[in-house]
Amino acid sequence: MGLMIFVCVFLCVLASAPTSNGWGPEGHYMVCKIAESYLTSNARKAVGELLPKDAIDLASVCSWPDEIRKQQKWSTTLHFVNTPGVCNFDYNRDCHSNGVKDFCVVAAIKNYTEQLETYQHSPTYNLTEALMFLAHFVGDIHQPLHCGFAADYGGNIIPVNWYDVKTNLHRVWDDNMVQKKMNDSFYGDLITMAKELKMEIDSQDYYAQKVNEWKACGNDAFACAKKFASESIELACALAYKNVQPDCTLGDYYFTTRISTVEERIIYASSYQASFTAQQNIQQYSRR
Ligand SMILES: *[C@@H]1O[C@H](CO)[C@@H](O)[C@H](O)[C@H]1NC(C)=O
Ligand SMILES: *[C@@H]1O[C@H](CO)[C@@H](O)[C@H](O)[C@H]1NC(C)=O
Ligand SMILES: *[C@@H]1O[C@H](CO)[C@@H](O)[C@H](O)[C@H]1NC(C)=O
Repeated sequence: MGLMIFVCVFLCVLASAPTSNGWGPEGHYMVCKIAESYLTSNARKAVGELLPKDAIDLASVCSWPDEIRKQQKWSTTLHFVNTPGVCNFDYNRDCHSNGVKDFCVVAAIKNYTEQLETYQHSPTYNLTEALMFLAHFVGDIHQPLHCGFAADYGGNIIPVNWYDVKTNLHRVWDDNMVQKKMNDSFYGDLITMAKELKMEIDSQDYYAQKVNEWKACGNDAFACAKKFASESIELACALAYKNVQPDCTLGDYYFTTRISTVEERIIYASSYQASFTAQQNIQQYSRR
């Protein structure tokens, strides 16, 4: 994967900086692809207006923030939020970057949601970028190790073997488990996997159930983002870090006991995007 090479280069160059990279391109693609399938026609129109001119769809630019982070270093720490080694999230304690307050994935979701709210009223910011950042960060915040421990950079500096391949714990969650599932169950085909996850949403009523939960976070992107971060650190402790020692080998047992959570987090991220971001934030601003 080009992205993995990129991550490695990035790690070497910025050895001292946290380097969580988000779901790999597959995870982000699926989150956005599934979300798009739920857009109302108005929301679809608004998203279409905001997408870069040459973009096929939102899914095709969902990894854009990963592609530009090398050039736009300021954005790097917006992809995650880590805790000081504890299994709960506290916004005031945790959301900062190199001493700058309110700089983390939770603040970024708030930031880009608010920017999109200016769609109607002479926006100050580039809303094409706001849309791509928001779509991406909603995916990132659902990856449990994007709210991991600061000391190990969300698992980035915990070396592990994924079967017989050397990798790190963070990357197991970003890429390796998603790719294995895709290979084993969907002939390596991303679109088929995205369709299957979408069917799970439809058949198990995840979507309807989740929409109700988001109403409980007050249709408030900031409240929702804090909730997602809390869920992620809890899953990081209960599953991602659990029984993992540096240089251990993770294989079938780890995979079969974690993959349903990976799929669920992708589903939740896309459902949130579809219901909240697009339908409620963007759609209303398209009624000019
Ligand atoms: C908010 O968005 C602007 C424009 O992209 C960016 O300069 C700023 O750093 C962002 N802040 C946060 C916390 O996301
Ligand atoms: C907004 O951002 C996109 C993506 O970076 C870029 O292609 C476009 O030129 C920008 N628009 C303006 C008006 O700067
Ligand atoms: C998935 O299959 C492709 C093509 O056969 C292979 O290159 C890749 O290493 C496999 N990935 C995993 C995680 O099994």
